[in-house]
Amino acid sequence: MELPKRPDVSYKDIDNIFENSLSQLKFFYILKSSIDLKLYDHLKDYKSFEEISSIINIKPILAYYILEILSKLKLVEKKDNLYKNSEISNLYLNNESIYCKNKGFILTAEKINMWENLVNTMKGNIKRNDNNHFPLIIQVMGENTIYGDLYDVVELINNLDEFKKAKRFLEIGGGHGFYTIALNHIKPDLEAFVLDLPNVIIETKKYIEKYDSKVKTIAGDFYTDTFGEDFDIIFSSYNPSGKNPDVAKKVYESLNFGGLFITKQNFPKEIEGNDLNELLNNFEWNLSDLTKSKKGKRSYTFKNDLFFKDYLLFLENLGFEILDVYNVLDLSPFATATNNDKIVIAKKVKFK
Ligand SMILES: C[S@@+](CC[C@H](N)C(=O)[O-])C[C@H]1O[C@@H](n2cnc3c(N)ncnc32)[C@H](O)[C@@H]1O
Repeated sequence: MELPKRPDVSYKDIDNIFENSLSQLKFFYILKSSIDLKLYDHLKDYKSFEEISSIINIKPILAYYILEILSKLKLVEKKDNLYKNSEISNLYLNNESIYCKNKGFILTAEKINMWENLVNTMKGNIKRNDNNHFPLIIQVMGENTIYGDLYDVVELINNLDEFKKAKRFLEIGGGHGFYTIALNHIKPDLEAFVLDLPNVIIETKKYIEKYDSKVKTIAGDFYTDTFGEDFDIIFSSYNPSGKNPDVAKKVYESLNFGGLFITKQNFPKEIEGNDLNELLNNFEWNLSDLTKSKKGKRSYTFKNDLFFKDYLLFLENLGFEILDVYNVLDLSPFATATNNDKIVIAKKVKFK
């Protein structure tokens, strides 16, 4: 049999796609295993790779290369052949730091599992029970909020005259409750509530207790329950009902005249982009569904969501005046946000 002729089109392009993706995956697993091995807990002071090898019980040659790679990624500093945490890893990856962010990897592990079994995932139509899914998410979002926009959003609200005069405050889908906890610390005479799903409220209560707060909780479902009435401010941040007209109507009904609806959400552009990352995010969004919140086609969207302009118009037609719109990233450069993340401040100005 003759050897096949070389085709006119090179295989190299496919090879490059595989190689580049695999490199990213290798970085990811180096990072993940360094956290699983609690490497950063042992690198508060300078150590040699031999010492690290015996502490985390891996071969010296592997300890050497992991440390060298981490030093290229700026997670480890190297001096005189000794290694220690860089400032950023000491702050965020060392388990003894109050800013340790390793919980984020619990979620990532869930994602990896989906991706590692992608064929099954795609065929399996995974359903996540909102009541089990969100208690985990809010731990990670709680961390992101503290490192991100918490203090900027709190300052923004604290500077509003309506907040200074407010007596009753409600946060819907508050999860960890940090915004309300922080606002209630500043204004202890405020009667402040966080509404969330029953299983999530169990976690909210733990944070309320941990931070010696008087915030009250309401176990409920923002799609099916009413919120009560007589609120001066209703706040909502990144939750499935954030662009939903029926929920906006309930907010309107629960607010006092002159009261504020402050909502911080990701509002996707009307026209779907097609850069690779956006396509990947939209694909991933559709890999699973939730039981209560029906997902929309694009990431961070849900059934019946309105686009930004239509949402503002809907609020105005309900009887809100839009007082301000902020870009989250302009307000808070530390936030883990995108250019699509906005804060809307709307005032109830009309009775219907
Ligand atoms: C992505 S998290 C956002 C948490 C927090 N607001 C923040 O910005 O960090 C979405 C929140 O909405 C809550 N949530 C989802 N569906 C809900 C529902 N049907 N009723 C009430 N809360 C819900 C979740 O439990 C979770 O706390």
